[in-house]
Amino acid sequence: MTAIDVRPGPETGSAVTAALRTISANITEFGDRFPGDTTTRDRYTLRPAAGDLPEGSNVGWTTAFWPGMYWLAYDLTGDRTYRDAAAAFLPGYAERIAQRIDVETHDLGFLYTLSCVAAYKRTGDKDARDAAIAAADHLLRRVLPSAGIIQAWGDLTDSRQRGRTIIDSLMNTPLLFWAGKVTGDPKYAAAARRHTAQLRDNILRDDDTTFHTFYWDQETGRPLRGETEQGSADDSCWARGQAWGIYGFTLNHRHTGDPTLLAAAVRCADYFLAHLPADSVAYWDLVYGDGDGQERDSSAAAIAVNGLLALADAGAPRADRYRAAALRILRSLIDGYTDESSNALLLHGVYDKPKSVGVDEGTLWGDYFYLEALTRVTQPNWKDHW
Ligand code: GLY
Repeated sequence: MTAIDVRPGPETGSAVTAALRTISANITEFGDRFPGDTTTRDRYTLRPAAGDLPEGSNVGWTTAFWPGMYWLAYDLTGDRTYRDAAAAFLPGYAERIAQRIDVETHDLGFLYTLSCVAAYKRTGDKDARDAAIAAADHLLRRVLPSAGIIQAWGDLTDSRQRGRTIIDSLMNTPLLFWAGKVTGDPKYAAAARRHTAQLRDNILRDDDTTFHTFYWDQETGRPLRGETEQGSADDSCWARGQAWGIYGFTLNHRHTGDPTLLAAAVRCADYFLAHLPADSVAYWDLVYGDGDGQERDSSAAAIAVNGLLALADAGAPRADRYRAAALRILRSLIDGYTDESSNALLLHGVYDKPKSVGVDEGTLWGDYFYLEALTRVTQPNWKDHW
């Protein structure tokens, strides 16, 4: 396998086989319940109870990565066991949006793209389609009219959160583009375009790094300031945020054809690649390097692999360089960041270092994007759900 060859090879093939073994075991272990956001000492356990909801319930922003992995396993194998396991979660997503259970978040994009949109695309399930459209409608309610940004966190009366969005939101706008296509209503794409342009102009800094979060004036819509929440400092470059930027700007370019979004993705990618350590797996903030005693964020690496491959496929200049870098990172993840004694696919991620949450652990999104990367590399005609 040459550096830029994306065909399946023995290493990626055996990595897929190992991942599928873990997923099959997890279907038996967890059934129709969800694990927590991250492992604890390298093992997932049931998602903690939340309010009146018991352990393993569909709450929080990360649950769709779980059935999302089952849909990937179905795509990789054609085995209906994975499809049935993924479909078993669908009524819970329909109920979640209908009953407004923990949906005051922009993460409706992650939640409904990888569960219901994936199901609709693979099986034509109309209930899944309707639930995803309802989620897109709920996401539209979060638009701040003065600035055209989609509020990331909290309810719409929360004055600390109104006017604030975050780099991760670039992964939530694909739900709006999808809803626009299936309904024929231009309002979804219009909102997504306006939001994404604001991020291009404000969350991406002149030196090609990104803020994690950014505020706009609630009344006038004027851009105010950036702040971090999970990075090392307000002016540092949180590694996962930069990876969301690579993949998110690329996806928004795919949906709009806007060359300025492709250029934004290239800027994120070039900075990310220029700040990798020797083994090509980023530390949790790109201000850190080898010898600083900090943890890697393998999930940032897995997201970046998909972003770089999608960027190359989008016709970015120097596409071969992005493909080669993606494969180098993926190889490093396979070789150094997996261990079949864990029920996670990918170890050594960081959720939120400043708050000491999920540090040096497996993460649901790291697992999902690692398997998405393996799927991309081993199935050249595969189409993602974004
Ligand atoms: N979307 C939240 C995170 O990346 O941690």
